Amino acid sequence: MARVFVTRELPGRALEKLAAEHDVDLWAERDAPPFVDLCRRSAGAEGLLCMLTDRIDAELLDAAPGLRAISTMAVGTDNIDLSEAARRGVPVGHTPDVLTDTTADLAVALMLAAARRLPEGEAAVRAGEWGPWHPGWMLGRDLHGATVGIVGMGRIGQAVARRLEGFGVRLLDARRDGLERLLDESDFVSLHCPLTQGTRGLIDAAMLRRMRPEAILVNTARGPIVDAGALADALAAGEIAAAALDVTDPEPLPTDHPLLSAPNLIVLPHVGSATHATRETMADVAVDNLLAALRGEPMPHTAYAGELG
Ligand code: GLV
Ligand code: GLV
Repeated sequence: MARVFVTRELPGRALEKLAAEHDVDLWAERDAPPFVDLCRRSAGAEGLLCMLTDRIDAELLDAAPGLRAISTMAVGTDNIDLSEAARRGVPVGHTPDVLTDTTADLAVALMLAAARRLPEGEAAVRAGEWGPWHPGWMLGRDLHGATVGIVGMGRIGQAVARRLEGFGVRLLDARRDGLERLLDESDFVSLHCPLTQGTRGLIDAAMLRRMRPEAILVNTARGPIVDAGALADALAAGEIAAAALDVTDPEPLPTDHPLLSAPNLIVLPHVGSATHATRETMADVAVDNLLAALRGEPMPHTAYAGELG
């Protein structure tokens, strides 16, 4: 029986399965453990089950020399220093595949919500602004027949592409067609790449300026891929038509953040994988990864650099 630190309550029955084999120390608060607590509670642990909000770096690994396994309940691993973990021989597990379709569904939902102005229309009804039917009111843009650029044609990017076949779109793929051509020609640009040194700030002022004034930017990947200040400016200047974000930098986004004053912006609180079924499955996979490593077996899903899509 090993001691395992779990940094948040898990949906479903995954924790029971873990507790049947190991001594579980649970951080039961709604907020993430502050870094000092993360270090202190990991110090005596052999296993760590963490979330994407937990910073797992050399300092944490030094504070927890007994760790034999790290398992994150996420597909993205940008919060984890994978090379420091590898250097110490600590395997890192993550939860790919099981959230691909759920996240792809949300990306398409955001495309449609921004294009058809769903939040604006809904707000207008509640504000008593719904007058007689008018041919020129609340006009949006079509997804069907549009040109959609996918940046990051991994698992999630491909799942979005499959969904869009039904909308009869023309697809551009940044890797095949080039990012600049994609930005020049796309009516929708959807981000599905991992956050790495190479993608941090990828969509900056210059890239936003390349986009069409009718274009809609959708980000369900990681906030820092987009320069938030440059996006706020591009929306205010009408350089692009709209943006729909499930991820921001920082998270949570403070209510006085300049982005929230920008026009034509939809923001969701990082809910790409947030369905009952998918979150329960992610918890199961995270626990299975940890159990395997603590048994001395290979994890079913090991993370390595550059994977998120
Ligand atoms: C969610 O953002 C994840 O990486 O699983
Ligand atoms: C729209 O509701 C229409 O009937 O054209």
